[in-house]
Amino acid sequence: MTLIDGKATAATIKEEIAARVAEIVEAGGKRPHLAAILVGHDGGSETYVKNKVLACKACGFESTLIRYEDTVSEAELLQRVQQLNSDAEIDGFIVQLPLPRHISEQRIIEAIDHRKDVDGFHPVNVGRMAIGLPCYVSATPLGILELLRRYHIETRGKRCVVLGRSNIVGKPMASLMMQKQYGDSTVTVLHSRSQDLKEECRRADILIAAIGHPGFVTADMVKPGAVVIDVGTTRVADTTRQSGFRLSGDVDFDNVKNVAGALTPVPGGVGPMTICMLMLNTLAAAEKRYYS
Ligand code: GUN
Repeated sequence: MTLIDGKATAATIKEEIAARVAEIVEAGGKRPHLAAILVGHDGGSETYVKNKVLACKACGFESTLIRYEDTVSEAELLQRVQQLNSDAEIDGFIVQLPLPRHISEQRIIEAIDHRKDVDGFHPVNVGRMAIGLPCYVSATPLGILELLRRYHIETRGKRCVVLGRSNIVGKPMASLMMQKQYGDSTVTVLHSRSQDLKEECRRADILIAAIGHPGFVTADMVKPGAVVIDVGTTRVADTTRQSGFRLSGDVDFDNVKNVAGALTPVPGGVGPMTICMLMLNTLAAAEKRYYS
């Protein structure tokens, strides 16, 4: 069984990005600049955003963290988005999700200039991705594609099962795996209403689990030798940890590792790659690679 090491792969990619930034700066260019808006104090979001700021530092980027209490109004947030849209210093920015219930996430996402939408959540980027045009692709699916590529895992013509249909992971992942220029696989999407779920999973050469249900994928759902990608990052209580929780994936790692041909761990698999792909998207934004 090959353990797919996302942490090490992400470290290598960050070094590659830092080298490119050094070249840009050497040639008199400006450092890429990512801004992040964080609303409230959700523990998971705090950690993600902290890690994004740290990744910026590792890559030689400038970063700006903009914080609001969870009482901020939608109008105030929309106004800040507009400011960032027109701020020439900022190459790309993200609004960390989830947002408080009184704010429409969709309205905020659609207010972001798609040319600065390095999360790839704006409908223009989602649409362009779906038809194979240059665009920002959302970071988690992009990170998974990059892991498969760097581990020389053949996807062309393979059976790929995506478990989950979220806008951030399941839908874009399925779309990318299907497309000739990316996965070129035969793709099945399974979700909470799917029938014969175990049998469908067992047919997969590549199984991508993104349903947010700890330990959902058991060994009997995995074809011997299959590649299993675990996108789950659910916080479960753990009194032996100082933090009081640990991250749990969607895959029953201890048993699936005896069946799978390759497997991503949680933590240290897909997670570090996601942040790394946000950095690659920000570099592309600074270089005006997709939109001039
Ligand atoms: N919340 C969970 N994942 C993400 C992400 O990739 N981007 C943003 N903005 N919010 C998230």
